[in-house]
Amino acid sequence: MSMRILVLISGRGSNLAALVEAAHAQAWPAQVVGVISNRPQAAGLQWAQSHGLPTQVLDHQAFASREAFDAALLQACLAHRPDVVVLAGFMRVLGEAFVQHFEGRLINIHPSLLPAFTGLHTHRRALQAGVKVAGATAHYVTPRLDHGPVIAQAVVPVLPRDTEHSLADRVLRAEHQLLPLAVAWHVRGELQLHEGCVHHRQGAAQTLFFPDADLTPAMAVPQ
Ligand code: GRF
Repeated sequence: MSMRILVLISGRGSNLAALVEAAHAQAWPAQVVGVISNRPQAAGLQWAQSHGLPTQVLDHQAFASREAFDAALLQACLAHRPDVVVLAGFMRVLGEAFVQHFEGRLINIHPSLLPAFTGLHTHRRALQAGVKVAGATAHYVTPRLDHGPVIAQAVVPVLPRDTEHSLADRVLRAEHQLLPLAVAWHVRGELQLHEGCVHHRQGAAQTLFFPDADLTPAMAVPQ
C-alpha cells in the first residue's frame, strides 16, 4: 500500500520538487498526493500543478486568528487522508492542536543545525555568530518551534567570503538531499523514536557531510 504524503509550502517549492523527484526516482512506497500553500503567490504551486499534483491555497491572512487558520488547515489536510505531512518551506508556526494531531508523522526541514538558530534569518545569524559550519535539519515536529526529534542533519562549510545569499544557496542544495532522505526513511518504516531521539533501525548514518562548497558528499548517501 502506497503511503500518502501531503506537502505544505509557502514559497518557491524547491524542497517539494526534490521530494517528488526522489519519490519517483527511488520508487518509494509512497507518493505526494497534494500540496497546500498558505501563500497564494507561492511559486511552488505552479510547479505542483505542472506536475499534476492537486493544490490548494489557504491564505492565513484571511483568518481572524491563528487558531482559526490552524483549524481550517487541519480540515484541509485531513481531506487528503495523509499518512505523513511534510513542511517543505512552510513559514507558519503551527499550534499545538494541529501538531498533536499529526504527532510522529509531521516532518519539517529547517535551514540550520538545530538546536542552533531556531526561527527566522538563520543564515544571517550564523554569519554574525561566526560559525564555521552550517547546514540543515530534518526533524519531527513537536509543539515547541524547531525543537522536535532530529531525523537527520546535513553539514556544509561556512566559507570566508560567504554572504547570506551564498550560504543560503549552499544550505538549500544540501536540503534537497536531506529532506528526501528523511522522508524516504519514514515512509519505509526505517525510523524509530526512543526517549525523544530518532534512530535508524539499520544504523544508517543520520548525517550528510558536504566538506566542500561544491557539495561533494564525504560519504555515500544511504538509499
Ligand atoms: C528552505 O531553506 C527552508 O528550509 C526554509 O525556506 C526555504 C524554502 O525553500 N524554511 P523552498 O520553498 O523549498 O524552495
